[in-house]
Amino acid sequence: MARFKNFFMFMVLHLLMTMALAIDTAWYDARATFYGDMKGGDTMQGACGYGDLFKQGYGLETAALSTALFNNGSTCGACFEIMCVNDPQWCIPNAGTIKITATNFCPPNFTKTTDVWCNPPQKHFDLSMPMFVKLANYKAGVIPVRYRRVLCSKQGGVKFEIKGNRYWTLVTVYNVGGAGDVTDVKIKGSNSVWQQMNRNWGQNWQIGSALAGQSLSFQVTTSDGKMVQFDNVAPVNWRFGQTFDGFGIHFQSSMSSSHRTSSLELAASRTTSFPSSMKCKEIHARIHQPPPKSICFLNQNPIHVN
Ligand SMILES: *[C@@H]1O[C@H](CO)[C@@H](O)[C@H](O)[C@H]1NC(C)=O
Ligand SMILES: *[C@@H]1O[C@H](CO)[C@@H](O)[C@H](O)[C@H]1NC(C)=O
Repeated sequence: MARFKNFFMFMVLHLLMTMALAIDTAWYDARATFYGDMKGGDTMQGACGYGDLFKQGYGLETAALSTALFNNGSTCGACFEIMCVNDPQWCIPNAGTIKITATNFCPPNFTKTTDVWCNPPQKHFDLSMPMFVKLANYKAGVIPVRYRRVLCSKQGGVKFEIKGNRYWTLVTVYNVGGAGDVTDVKIKGSNSVWQQMNRNWGQNWQIGSALAGQSLSFQVTTSDGKMVQFDNVAPVNWRFGQTFDGFGIHFQSSMSSSHRTSSLELAASRTTSFPSSMKCKEIHARIHQPPPKSICFLNQNPIHVN
């Protein structure tokens, strides 16, 4: 009887954990448009804090998400499967599905009265043009779609790009497989304890600590609750501006790794930036006094303000 009870408890726990750890893979309705051109110049950078999407492994398989899906940046890095539906005029027959990673924000425009696709509460994907034309002719402009979350398939390890200054460390976490959307990051210098990092914007995580001269370890958690620890990813002589590879370790994914894009030349141009004033305030609040200068973001680049 006790054994049965234990087994029962195990099953309940197992069920609870499985439920808590899964991403929601149900299909939902949304719409899709495109931005940029076939080379994706306009889709680089963006509100998730990523940079050259070709170098970072995202390629052209990306989208900007409306407010309802972007979730203040916490959806950055999540992967979606999308199909064109209910539009016999524009959906390409048997087009199948596309898979994209969320890398940008499609901002609402409250002064517009027509074609306000990205305004809340609408679920909307502003796709790269090469992704859109897999589903419909570009002349369609906007198409009804059905989408679901899928696991992300990434090659190579999770990457950590370290920025900031001696008072403040900002780490961009990218190339994350599995659920893809990082929900928590902790950092540990070789002479320090584990410390909580806070989301600055997108997948940029910050801490107001001096960690120079220490090797750096990270604990990265994705939205499905999976945590991976990366010990001493950055050696003691790391420098701001460098990127470190998590030893080829990546979050597990059962998906095939078929959708990879090779590196291409690109011209990074327009970016969709977060309100930089808001970000300045957040940084002010987190830097311990007395900062010699304050730091703000302008189009994703840290700028120093006297
Ligand atoms: C996004 O952040 C703002 C300000 O930090 C907050 O007021 C708002 O509720 C957040 N929205 C969501 C969807 O989390
Ligand atoms: C918002 O829409 C208005 C009216 O169409 C337009 O003039 C304006 O440029 C748009 N703003 C942005 C940021 O796209």
